[in-house]
Amino acid sequence: MMALEGAPFEPKPAPDFSSGRYLAPMVRAGTLPMRITATQFGATACFTDVIIDQKLMRSDRHVSSIGSIPLVEYRLPDGGPLAFQTCPREGPVVCQIGSANDVYAISAVQNIERDVSAFDLNCGCNVSFSTKGDMGVNRMFDLESTSAVLKAMVRATNKPVTVKTRLYHENDPDNVGQRRDLEFLAMAEQAGVKAITIHARYPKDSRSAAVHWERLRLIRESANIPVIANGGLMTEDDIAACQDASGCTSFMLARGAFSGISMFKRGPVDGMEFLTKLYENSVLCGVSAANAKYNLSFGFKGRKELVPPPKREALQHCKSYEELGSVLGFRAPVEVLADVGL
Ligand SMILES: Cc1cc2nc3c(=O)[nH]c(=O)nc-3n(C[C@H](O)[C@H](O)[C@H](O)COP(=O)(O)O)c2cc1C
Repeated sequence: MMALEGAPFEPKPAPDFSSGRYLAPMVRAGTLPMRITATQFGATACFTDVIIDQKLMRSDRHVSSIGSIPLVEYRLPDGGPLAFQTCPREGPVVCQIGSANDVYAISAVQNIERDVSAFDLNCGCNVSFSTKGDMGVNRMFDLESTSAVLKAMVRATNKPVTVKTRLYHENDPDNVGQRRDLEFLAMAEQAGVKAITIHARYPKDSRSAAVHWERLRLIRESANIPVIANGGLMTEDDIAACQDASGCTSFMLARGAFSGISMFKRGPVDGMEFLTKLYENSVLCGVSAANAKYNLSFGFKGRKELVPPPKREALQHCKSYEELGSVLGFRAPVEVLADVGL
């Protein structure tokens, strides 16, 4: 890669979140190639995978290029792991932070602010990687300290700050999931948050649990900020049903983005065209072939017509982009890189 230290790079302005379709934060899957691909297919903005505050605050900024495309990367010192990567090919990017500490949150935000469009605080992830640090869904049960983290983020940046959470369980003590939903909303609004995403499942639910879009209606009607609906939006019909039930006009897609990227474009898209773009963007961004394989598999999960079983079997053994491209019938990496002058 050529060094382009100091090269100008401006993230796109954040939308106002009052409408549109957003790529959800997804660990491993929400890396730069998928965000560029979602942008190419019409996503209003893309959220990054959750990045822990301490990782962000300790990372150094590096500017290089992929051929003619400038690339900005944040890495832990001494060539350590990548925390965040962006380039001008992506649209508005919302950096999702995992934090339970207002001091760390400020440092994280300030370290990366110049390269992102907005920030989001993760208050909805229920895997141990988040909860053991009192992050993610645990933030729903300590409004005082969550408010402190959000206020710190808002004070630390001029960029919008949003929050992503879940519904409280309907049988929560004191009624009352619904009342607690509204308390969380009020806390977020008072902290200066510009939009709230609600994953319409309960804190302990797995991704296959039932969604409760109807519960979003009261929250949306009570809110002074946009409410982005998330959870179970796998088809255009789901979006229409969610809009009917909740009145929401902003939608966030996670797994649905991989199985139905056309929901961003709202028009027919050939599934193979999506996989080809995802593969080529992965080559360009230089993410590992293992990450590309993981994301591509998300894209053809349950769709035999796209990638039939013998090819799936062959893919399991692929260790390089050359092998991935050859099994899927895509261009070789050298040809993809030639497009950007490499
Ligand atoms: C692979 C994967 C990784 C995820 N990682 C995150 C994450 O980093 N932060 C977050 O807030 N939610 C994360 N989620 C949850 C999604 O953003 C979303 O809330 C959830 O999958 C429900 O949407 P869906 O029904 O459209 O998949 C992840 C989901 C998946 C499938």
